[in-house]
Amino acid sequence: MILPIYLYGQPVLRKEAEEIENTPELKQFIADMYETLTQAEGCGLAAPQVGRPWRLFVVDGNELAEDYPECKDFKRAFINPELLEESEETCTYSEGCLSLPGISENVVRPATIKMRYLDEDFNEHEEVFTGFCARIVQHEYDHLEGHVFTDRISPIRKTFVRNKLVSIAKGKTVARYKYKRN
Ligand code: NI
Repeated sequence: MILPIYLYGQPVLRKEAEEIENTPELKQFIADMYETLTQAEGCGLAAPQVGRPWRLFVVDGNELAEDYPECKDFKRAFINPELLEESEETCTYSEGCLSLPGISENVVRPATIKMRYLDEDFNEHEEVFTGFCARIVQHEYDHLEGHVFTDRISPIRKTFVRNKLVSIAKGKTVARYKYKRN
């Protein structure tokens, strides 16, 4: 089932999400998140973006593999993730977000991170991510902390995107995928 995506301005995107436990419904919800992500042609989707304040996100980098080979087969769910390490080395990529349609901006973040998380069978993993995979994971992890990527752009760029953010929050921006009206 395709879920409506919550756009900037919805309070759930600013909440710190809560850890979750395994329930019989969770597998179907994760399947719905993948379906929603694919339909919206995104590479990552966090539970708060579909209205659930839960520490869960899914990624699928396959569509990006041509530009970022490390993203091939990078498709998985992250449950209750913990950021264990961040490199001092940083890098810059242009980011966008399904909750912020029409905005893309350069963001500086650590180049490499180490994360502990549970997969959808609740098996624990510790894994190092680099390149664009690290970028996707950090962007999605931010959603669980109540952050969006425009929080991290330079002050001058913030002034450029302010009007666009207001437009989204006021329900004046149209997305090309199913979304919840602000
Ligand atoms: Ni996002």
